[in-house]
Amino acid sequence: MSAPKDFLSLADWKAEDLRGILARAHELKRRYRRGETPQTLSGRTLAMYFEKPSLRTHVTFEAGMTQLGGHAILLRPEQVGIGTRESAADVARNLSRWVHGMVARTYDHALVEELAAAATIPVINGLTDLLHPCQAMADLQTITERADLEKVAVAYVGDGNNVANSLLNAFAVLGGELRLATPRSHQPARQVRQRAMALAAASGARITFTEDPVEAVRGAHFVYTDVWTSMGQEAESERRKALFEPFQVNARLLRHAPDALVMHCLPAHRGEEITDDVLDGPQSIVFDQAENRLHAQKAILEALLT
Ligand code: CP
Ligand code: NVA
Repeated sequence: MSAPKDFLSLADWKAEDLRGILARAHELKRRYRRGETPQTLSGRTLAMYFEKPSLRTHVTFEAGMTQLGGHAILLRPEQVGIGTRESAADVARNLSRWVHGMVARTYDHALVEELAAAATIPVINGLTDLLHPCQAMADLQTITERADLEKVAVAYVGDGNNVANSLLNAFAVLGGELRLATPRSHQPARQVRQRAMALAAASGARITFTEDPVEAVRGAHFVYTDVWTSMGQEAESERRKALFEPFQVNARLLRHAPDALVMHCLPAHRGEEITDDVLDGPQSIVFDQAENRLHAQKAILEALLT
């Protein structure tokens, strides 16, 4: 079976295809460091539609396209007017006649699915309220440049939101050990969990859910967290700070995982989900993760746009 047209959810992808993208991401990074930028997307154009702010995703997609010989166009929602000026399907049909691929960062995951269904070009999920698959690919690159995925335990501590959901999908498809510590009320979405557990049964992934951060991080090789208040949830910020307080990644928690490397998708809300001393400390690899967004996405772009 051929790979999907779109990159919306890692759960749609086969392990061998994701492994191929990861291998290419590692290769592109090595070559980039030698000053080599293969022109594999020469003459190709990517449209980037962002409903939410972005530093990493925007810059790495745009720089990635430039480095591979292509070009990227940023589209703001007020320019395009999906749902006011024209429908999502019509926007997707138009873009399909001009450009070779589209990245979309939206609130509603259904909008990315609607764009993908109407587009004849590949649509890449640049983060929705539900999933962040490009982040998970950079995370896998960051982990696998240090260790064999099969041999490590990764603990995710905090909100079971888009980043956690995609990490869950990544492990479910590829295998490995992922322990998720979240409040019961903020576990990964039920439909994501159910699908991931079915995939895990096939891949042999060892995935566990707990409400106890200490249980999750004990002996873990990587400890990962994300913000407690995601983009669009700002009105809930105070309530979330109180709810998630026991899930902070700080020096006290890391006493249970003294050799663990600390990961965060960024941006961080310093002093909330992670303390400054941990984020800036010797266990932190958060900027390596950010660096890998560039290489992982170049590999995704090559896989979809060529
Ligand atoms: N991690 C991440 O997606 O960062 P941006 O929101 O800055 O793109
Ligand atoms: N969960 C965060 C991730 C940001 C990259 C958010 O959605 O805001």
